[in-house]
Amino acid sequence: MDNGWDASAEAWIADQGDAGDFSRRYVLDAPMQARVRLAAPGRVLDVGCGEGRFCRWLASEDIACVGVEPAAGLLAEAQRRDPAGDYRPGRAEQLPFADASFDMVVFYLTLIDIEDIHAALAEAARVLTPGGRILLANLQPYNTAADAFEKLDGGERRLVMARYLEEHDRWDEWRGIRIRNWHRPLSAYMTCLLDLGLGLTCFEEPAATGGPDRARVSYNHVPYHFMMEWRLPVAAG
Ligand SMILES: C[S@@+](CC[C@H](N)C(=O)[O-])C[C@H]1O[C@@H](n2cnc3c(N)ncnc32)[C@H](O)[C@@H]1O
Repeated sequence: MDNGWDASAEAWIADQGDAGDFSRRYVLDAPMQARVRLAAPGRVLDVGCGEGRFCRWLASEDIACVGVEPAAGLLAEAQRRDPAGDYRPGRAEQLPFADASFDMVVFYLTLIDIEDIHAALAEAARVLTPGGRILLANLQPYNTAADAFEKLDGGERRLVMARYLEEHDRWDEWRGIRIRNWHRPLSAYMTCLLDLGLGLTCFEEPAATGGPDRARVSYNHVPYHFMMEWRLPVAAG
């Protein structure tokens, strides 16, 4: 089923610019990059790499990276901006790679876009080397279950949430982008990764540390991202 990404590619590329949007630039990039540097992976797979911004950062750190992306317009832009980079068409649920071929698999705000996270995370675990890591950033489930924002006296916003325990999709629209996202409770992600035999090695709910004052204060009042790193056992048994 269409998820809106092909039609939204052009608007998405414009919205990200070179440095990424507010969430990437001021909230997630720093902790994501710190985990990559700590793990020092030899080879990274970026699943749903979009227009390739995180792959370009990996390359700037001399880390070998492959980006996989189903939306043709985003894939072409990634390749255009980084002609020496390795970008392939593909979907998370069926990765076109051999078992044990990466030390790290990144899902940078892509699990919310993926309908079957069981298949996607099983594929990620399959292509990881023993001891390899899944590094993911995602929208907080209380955000994906949000129905609306309520304005409090004084201008602060409060999130109104519904159907938290029920996995469901919804279409979101902003600045010319219209895409289908998936809500699932936090336990759905955790259970899936635990069932695959991975262990949690990092969990963060990062604050915004830069950007315009208003946006930073508003983000930190109702922060809506988390970051996790999971690790495969070094050896079975
Ligand atoms: C919110 S964007 C994030 C892009 C990039 N990771 C970033 O942080 O800029 C979500 C991305 O997931 C991709 N995507 C959607 N469904 C996918 C799937 N089944 N497998 C892999 N990627 C998918 C979309 O095409 C899009 O590029």
